[in-house]
Amino acid sequence: MTLSILAIDTSCDETSAAVTQGTTILSNIIWSQASLHAKWGGVLPSLAQRKHRQRIDWVISRALKAANKKMTDIDAVAVTVGPCLAVAGQVGIQKAKEISIKHHKPFLAVNHLEGHVLSPLALPKSKRLTKKQLPFPAFGLVVSGGHTDLVKIKQIGQYQLLATTQDDALGEALDKAARMLGLGYPGGAILEKMARKGKDNKYSLPLPMSGRESEGRFSYSGLKTAMWKLTESEKKNGFLRKSQIENLAWVFQDKAFEHLIRVIKYQIQKEPAKTLLVGGGVVANTELRKRLRQMVKELNLRVCLPYSKRLCTDNAAMIGVAAYFKAKRGEYEKEINKVERVPRLSLDQTPPWSD
Ligand code: KG4
Ligand code: ZN
Repeated sequence: MTLSILAIDTSCDETSAAVTQGTTILSNIIWSQASLHAKWGGVLPSLAQRKHRQRIDWVISRALKAANKKMTDIDAVAVTVGPCLAVAGQVGIQKAKEISIKHHKPFLAVNHLEGHVLSPLALPKSKRLTKKQLPFPAFGLVVSGGHTDLVKIKQIGQYQLLATTQDDALGEALDKAARMLGLGYPGGAILEKMARKGKDNKYSLPLPMSGRESEGRFSYSGLKTAMWKLTESEKKNGFLRKSQIENLAWVFQDKAFEHLIRVIKYQIQKEPAKTLLVGGGVVANTELRKRLRQMVKELNLRVCLPYSKRLCTDNAAMIGVAAYFKAKRGEYEKEINKVERVPRLSLDQTPPWSD
């Protein structure tokens, strides 16, 4: 019988709990605080922490109920320990410890980025993951609000960083561009909507790190500055027309994605692997999905994307899936009092207490 895992994620501004069995999602409850942070133009840590505290018990009981499980049916509790907004991540960790102690459940500490990388493996009950869908080595890509990382996955649990960002993450850059255009926060999805109506040949922006793809770095700060200058120069009396916003949204997205694809392509061609797993909020973007599919076709690779858009952005089901593979390797925490948040944990690192 596959383990039933209760998973929790409070890494940023979504309070989420899920029940998973292997790679099957039995429930995945997400309470988003995004609209509360919108007026601040970004996530306000103290507000995030307060809201997580208010909602955590509610999302957990809803996740159990939706999965038709009681706490006695749960075999282990899993939680994101990093990377995270420190005060936000702490709420989930504290709750997972309480559950582990009170109900005598083994404890699994999960890297949020591993959750994103493995999110394409999380499937609803009606779908089954076959062994054929898991060929390793593979590549993994995380494109989120905080990270842009390309890794080689030797096997699940072993990640080697091939490329990362030297400044902004892709999602962060899209959010900032959206803000320049007055589209609100978080802006990635709104920018996508505007860009759909944008024309290709109205504006131009420089392609980041053109000719330097071999360096294994992504960079969005130069593109952002160029976008700011272009946007300001286009404003008449401090305003942009709708068609200008659409065209500017298109050109920014176009260059941001082209840069991403070029760097990935360079790195992937050097290494033998046949599958690319992609996770993170930005892969909810239809244009990016199209370009990734085009790229893998050219390289004769397979791309594996999250089953639904809910699984792209932060959610606890992906944490449950990553935890399942950890459990299979026997990587339970022996001393949970040593477990703490690791705000800057990277994908190729293990938390300090497990060394
Ligand atoms: O993975 P995620 O929920 O949070 C982090 O772990 O960072 O990703 C959030 C990011 C935000 O930057 C948001 O603007 C972006 O994902 N995002 C999108 C779309 N939906 C969410 N970016 C582009 N197109 C979208 N449709
Ligand atoms: Zn995330």
